[in-house]
Amino acid sequence: RIASFVMSGGVGSRLWPLSREDNPEQFHDLSGDGSMLAKTVRRLKARPEGETPIYLVASERHADRVVSDIGSLGLNGGKAIFEPVGRNTAAAVAIAALQTISEHGGDSLVLVVPSDHEISTDAMFWETVEAGVPAANSGRIVVFGIKPTHPETGYGYIEVSSDGAGVNGVSRFVEKPDAETARDYLASGNFYWNAGIFLFRADTMRDAFRDFCPEIWEAAERAHAAARTDASGIYLPQGFYSAVQSTSIDYAVMEHARDIAMVTATFRWNDLGSWQSLLEASPTDPDGNVVMGDVVAMDCANSYLRSQRRLLSVIGMKDVTVVATPDAVFVAPVSHSQNVKKVVEQLEKSG
Ligand code: GDD
Repeated sequence: RIASFVMSGGVGSRLWPLSREDNPEQFHDLSGDGSMLAKTVRRLKARPEGETPIYLVASERHADRVVSDIGSLGLNGGKAIFEPVGRNTAAAVAIAALQTISEHGGDSLVLVVPSDHEISTDAMFWETVEAGVPAANSGRIVVFGIKPTHPETGYGYIEVSSDGAGVNGVSRFVEKPDAETARDYLASGNFYWNAGIFLFRADTMRDAFRDFCPEIWEAAERAHAAARTDASGIYLPQGFYSAVQSTSIDYAVMEHARDIAMVTATFRWNDLGSWQSLLEASPTDPDGNVVMGDVVAMDCANSYLRSQRRLLSVIGMKDVTVVATPDAVFVAPVSHSQNVKKVVEQLEKSG
């Protein structure tokens, strides 16, 4: 049995100004076929080997959005779990393991997936995940590797000790290396990007937390034990949950875990972490443009042009990102568009 948990509590500053704290990227329709969250749930529902109960770990401030996005999709008997404050992914994964242990037993498998990634296709996703099931059942934490194409510093890197298709041994997991290290990893040919998807037995993760960061596990356990449940979901209590240390699962557990296995992903993957990656992942017109919303574009090429509730007209631009929302406009060369996070930081500082 696999219980699937969608990590849906990110605040998504990378696709500003579309993505905002109150309305982060997982709730947006980025590729024209439903919100990223709804697409993620549909992917999980498409498991060929049988139903997986689906749990969403999301922010309480987005509870209404979660309920309306999921609508009639249904969660196969899973539930929404609401966090009163975001404590990053280590806390959310600990809650996933705790919920699985209490509802399905410690030997049940837990699949953790992000809520905002583009993955082709549902069938390849599940084929890749199922390939990791025997390793996960035997007590290893299974990660899913993507062949790197450039020295990206925003990802985790997995060094494999045996290479090839199928299940590989892992000698090292390094989260977000600096640019020089990322270049070395790329050159060595032994490293894969971490797709941000994890498969493990619930009790394997419990034991890893107890070994490497017992205080996170214990604080999450207190919060989980005090949670309130109603028809809309499980609500973690503010006091106990705020006390859980805020760090990612990658730093808290994965960099220290001894028995990791990696399955090479067969699917195409894009974390849609920047306007550039969104342009790369989206269907384009014959000139290489993505044009969404109320936009009149002439003589443009290789550009991402998107407008919400106002008319945007662009003439004669190449390789440019223009995103207009009712209260903000963002313009940058496509190759610089990931620097939007600096704008968000600046705005946060100035209140
Ligand atoms: N419930 C919950 N609570 N979910 C969260 C929280 C939180 O506090 N913070 C982030 N998430 C969700 C995000 O919405 C996203 O779906 C997922 O967890 C991953 O979080 P990110 O913050 O986007 O992670 P990242 O992209 O910096 O790094 C991770 O993903 C990379 C691949 O995209 C790592 O696992 C890297 O190793 C990996 O390469």
